[in-house]
Amino acid sequence: MEYISFYNGNEMPIVGLGTFRVENNDECKASVKHAIESGFTHIDTAMIYENEDKVGEGIAEGLAATGLKRSDLFITSKLWLADYGRENVAEAYETSLKKLGLDYLDLYLMHWPGTDEAVMIDTWQGMEDLYKENKVKNIGVSNFNVEHLEALLAQVSIKPVINQVEFHPYLLQASLNRYLDVQNIHMESWSPLMNAQILEDETVKAIAKEVGKSPAQVIIRWNIEHGVVVIPKSVTPSRIEENLEVFDFSLTAEQIERLDKLNENSRIGPDPVEYSGH
Ligand SMILES: NC(=O)c1ccc[n+]([C@@H]2O[C@H](COP(=O)([O-])OP(=O)(O)OC[C@H]3O[C@@H](n4cnc5c(N)ncnc54)[C@H](OP(=O)(O)O)[C@@H]3O)[C@@H](O)[C@H]2O)c1
Repeated sequence: MEYISFYNGNEMPIVGLGTFRVENNDECKASVKHAIESGFTHIDTAMIYENEDKVGEGIAEGLAATGLKRSDLFITSKLWLADYGRENVAEAYETSLKKLGLDYLDLYLMHWPGTDEAVMIDTWQGMEDLYKENKVKNIGVSNFNVEHLEALLAQVSIKPVINQVEFHPYLLQASLNRYLDVQNIHMESWSPLMNAQILEDETVKAIAKEVGKSPAQVIIRWNIEHGVVVIPKSVTPSRIEENLEVFDFSLTAEQIERLDKLNENSRIGPDPVEYSGH
């Protein structure tokens, strides 16, 4: 596993397991457990996925099966828009912890910026409260664009460590990436495989052939080459294992450029400027 380092000195595994659209059932528990047994130490969930209970059970079973300690893992969850407002953050955090069966998170994210800047700033102050009280190891944001970040950084005292956004070869996010670099905030990609759509792309398939890896592994490696934290979701044991076998090869500058050139600024998820959670 490789790690990225935040400006506060903490580290985060560059590959993790996504859990969006994984129902709160035994398959969810089994996939998280299998991921930990396969070497994943980083799991991404969110209150709104409604699966924190089974993700938590999978974490507990994964720890028991491997002998790893809680501190060997990096667990992320996210604050949903309905819980925004400084005074609501601590309770929402405690609810997520209780469901997950954990006593702290490694990373807590504001899931979306929302459409009201004052609420966004006020909510971030609630995130800062958690951080200052040492209840959470790191705080960050998700789906923030440059304008959201500029407004945030102008008005708050603690910077987010990371911004989790939609990122794949069809949505390169070049200007956001440059801005984050300057601010020393990391980028994390969601839907890195475009929900498996990008795996059918001819360029991706051709590069997979060239390097003797699967299209999914090429895309995950492309994220790593860009220094972007990547959280492919899978509930399929063989794919979970496959998605971690990305540290024994690299892409050439030419292959990275061919993938970058697929950019067409197209999203599969909502545009953060408009999204209010409905
Ligand atoms: N912050 C946000 O607003 C936000 C939004 C969306 C997602 N996320 C996070 O990002 C994570 C990843 O995004 P995502 O779940 O939307 O989609 P994704 O990771 O881009 O794609 C998941 C799909 O790809 C398939 N897949 C995974 N590995 C594969 C492989 N090696 N070969 C072939 N197919 C493979 C999965 O199938 P199987 O599961 O059937 O194997 C699933 O259908 C989420 O789970 C969530 O944690 C965050």
